[in-house]
Amino acid sequence: MCGIIGAIAHANVVPVLLEGLLRLEYRGYDSAGLVVTNHGLQRVRTTGRVTELSKLVAQQRAQGLAGIAHTRWATHGEPSERNAHPHFSGEISRIAVVHNGIIENHEAIRSHLINKGFKFSSDTDTEVIAHLIAFNLEQVTDLFQAVCLSIAELQGAYAIAVMEEAHPERIVVARNGAPLLLGIGKSGNYVASDTSALLQTTRDIIYLEEGDVAELSSRGYRIVNCLRNHLGEAVERAVHESHLSNEAIGLGPYAHFMQKEIFEQPSAVANTLEMVFNAQSISPNLFGSEAEEIFSSINHILILACGTSYHAGLVARYWLETVAGLPCNVEIASEYRYRNPVTDPNTLVIGISQSGETADTLAALNYAKKLGHQYSLAICNVPESALIRQTDLRFLTRAGPEIGVASTKAFTTQLASLLLLTVTLAKMRHKLSSEDEQRMIASLRHLPVALQHALQVEPQVRIWAKRFAQKRHALFLGRGVHYPIAMEGALKLKEISYIHAEAYAAGELKHGPLALVDSEMPVVAIAPNDQLLGKLKSNLQEVHARGGELYVFADADSHITQGENLHVIRLAEHAGLLSPILHTIPLQLLAYHVALERGTDVDKPRNLAKAVTVE
Ligand code: M6R
Repeated sequence: MCGIIGAIAHANVVPVLLEGLLRLEYRGYDSAGLVVTNHGLQRVRTTGRVTELSKLVAQQRAQGLAGIAHTRWATHGEPSERNAHPHFSGEISRIAVVHNGIIENHEAIRSHLINKGFKFSSDTDTEVIAHLIAFNLEQVTDLFQAVCLSIAELQGAYAIAVMEEAHPERIVVARNGAPLLLGIGKSGNYVASDTSALLQTTRDIIYLEEGDVAELSSRGYRIVNCLRNHLGEAVERAVHESHLSNEAIGLGPYAHFMQKEIFEQPSAVANTLEMVFNAQSISPNLFGSEAEEIFSSINHILILACGTSYHAGLVARYWLETVAGLPCNVEIASEYRYRNPVTDPNTLVIGISQSGETADTLAALNYAKKLGHQYSLAICNVPESALIRQTDLRFLTRAGPEIGVASTKAFTTQLASLLLLTVTLAKMRHKLSSEDEQRMIASLRHLPVALQHALQVEPQVRIWAKRFAQKRHALFLGRGVHYPIAMEGALKLKEISYIHAEAYAAGELKHGPLALVDSEMPVVAIAPNDQLLGKLKSNLQEVHARGGELYVFADADSHITQGENLHVIRLAEHAGLLSPILHTIPLQLLAYHVALERGTDVDKPRNLAKAVTVE
């Protein structure tokens, strides 16, 4: 999704802006641009990558002591240079705006401004903001007030940064619904939509709150909450020291971030479970100081999430129901937020999100609260995210920054966290003996090693990938707790290789999808040695009998024999409850190697963004 970086300092800020944009590239974008104060506002934009923007900036000798820059992921208007940010308003003293998010009432404001004589040169909702600020600037004395007046008229979720040609000594920024952070430096001040873009300059970070408008100069800043405080009194916001490591964001010896992140899973899971490794028993306090009280008051779980995080929730439902005896609903956040569900106040609502900024997940969680759900828990990978700040309880997946758009280590660490939650709740509900608890702790301690073993199937998967790369469609089958893993495998494949892939609960095969099976439709099956293996084998027979080509991920003792049109890769061990976590690995590797074969952009698949901060 779109990214913002702005800087105002005592030296040329162009290198900071370009480096910031590079750090934001992982979010996904289709155009990039910047504005700097250089005897007026100098703008450079391109539909190319940030490296292309850097070349243009050098050719046009763009430099200045203040500037704002942006990577755009198109929502309103095609990806093109004229739709790329920053957008201008005015000819004599121009306003420049960069913007993340969506302005929902942009059409009404656009018509109003056209009637007032403003001319539009793009199809974006952002240009509406630029003209609106310019219009309001005619009614008040300075840009700060004009931004405050303007945001009162905007509906939707947004983060903006604004500059005015006549006053190059300041940048005004505002947030409402989309993240925006200030970086407080020694020789300048900065703004960005993501901490990773700021670390090059400072670790002192301020998280702006909803309705905050801030003015930055090279020497200082002030913040006002314009939605709550129309008198314009300054508000205090704490300065946090960010502990995000710079190396964690680098690629190291790997060709792609996705590859790096797949291979980081043993350590990511070990970091996530570290506090359990050193403990003799599992304590609810892992989820927050109020967890014991809240966990003993609940009798139902509701999980809200999107995409891969939703798949983690589906796996957790099996665990929570089977091990903890707790009824559990898992809902796609974008669906839940527009339903009228029956509520039970003794429900624990769990938001799962890698980024903690997914607009639908945040909105669904708020909606659940409005409906009367009183207890909430975040399972999230970003300590500084909106989700973490919105829930009563929280558990951090300590996967480290996930840069590849396709989620990998976030998923397995989410699963590890959800299993920990299951064990905690099962113990509190007297569904788990202390021997069982000890066995679970031992299995969790072993999990990083088991993941390491699972990664060793890579050479075999690479051979399969060559065959897959020629195909246009694929089916993924699983049963029980491995059905969501089949869904995750299909999502990974379609997301980065652009091969159409569908997942089915294997028992559903003969209710429709079997009609698709022929030699051109590879069928991937997740076949661990669990209680549903016998049933799954019958389903595989149905495929085999119709000339389908089967690719089976089994366990060492699954007793499935390789044969004509039946290929088998075995994981070294069957991990019982932890099996879905291990069976995720070969599916991620398959998607990765198929994408490599097909030459797609593995880390930044077309049309997708890392953090989906708009609805
Ligand atoms: O940051 P989140 O976990 O909330 O993101 C949710 C989805 O957008 C995300 O999992 C998406 O499906 C991934 N790109 C899949 O690999």
